[in-house]
Amino acid sequence: MKFIKPLLVILIGYLLLKVGVPLVGAKLHPGTWPVIPTSVMKMYMFFVIVGVLLMYTYSSEGYDGLIGPIADIYGNPAKTKFAIIAMVVVGGFGSYVAYEYVKPSFEAPVELRSVHPAPPSTVKMWNKSFNLLTLKNPLREDKANLAKNVEEGGVVYYKNCFYCHGDLLDGKGHFFHGFNPMPANFQDVGTIAMLTESFVFWRVGSGGPGLPSEGTPWASAMPVWHNFISEEETWKVIMFLYDYTGHSPRATEEHKG
Ligand code: HEC
Repeated sequence: MKFIKPLLVILIGYLLLKVGVPLVGAKLHPGTWPVIPTSVMKMYMFFVIVGVLLMYTYSSEGYDGLIGPIADIYGNPAKTKFAIIAMVVVGGFGSYVAYEYVKPSFEAPVELRSVHPAPPSTVKMWNKSFNLLTLKNPLREDKANLAKNVEEGGVVYYKNCFYCHGDLLDGKGHFFHGFNPMPANFQDVGTIAMLTESFVFWRVGSGGPGLPSEGTPWASAMPVWHNFISEEETWKVIMFLYDYTGHSPRATEEHKG
């Protein structure tokens, strides 16, 4: 039973690192419990085990004490059965550890998606080029027809958008469960309320495929609307979104000078 002693030394070394170090740390900085990181712990334990092995195999007596039990099992024909079991257990455990180590992870990689990426300065939609920095909603000037335009925007919305963005504009349309990212909730102050109309115009017109690369990795299901509705309908539906939710578009910063 000479191998009990080196095992005890390894165990004491482990406890000293695992509990002793945080205890000292807590004494020096009350209220903290500074544990050793696992990777560093592994390194320290490697040195502890190598140190113990070196110490106990220094003399031939110590060597016999450590190796003795193993040599006894494998050198003794009467213990062949036991030797086979030991081999299977040790081999199995080693294989399991190796398998766990190399097994690929099925978790999705952590990637950040920018919900409102910086828009391009010019975009091409309806075979025209728009400068998003200076673009304004032309229909806002037409004060006389404001109510009519909003109403027509509502028609565009309930024909094209509500089944994803919801009939209450809360992003909970019939199909919202199927999408990741989910359709935008226009009632939420984190969407159109913090965007300029030109930004919304760009997002509606060019949809998910029009997002710059920061908009990935999740493919957006938002359709490219300039293929399906007119430029005027787009401005109208945008006016409807603001009117219905009671939000106002973010003002464009004017640069005078
Ligand atoms: C097939 C489902 C679907 C339909 C239909 C749809 N959208 Fe979307 N929309 C999405 C999804 C998903 C997102 C969120 C991902 C993104 O930003 O591209 C989104 C995002 C948006 C955004 C961006 C909001 C923000 O905070 O950046 C606007 C604006 C928008 N949709 C307007 C509309 C309008 C207007 C229509 C109708 C003309 C419409 N959508 C129809 C799925 C849809």
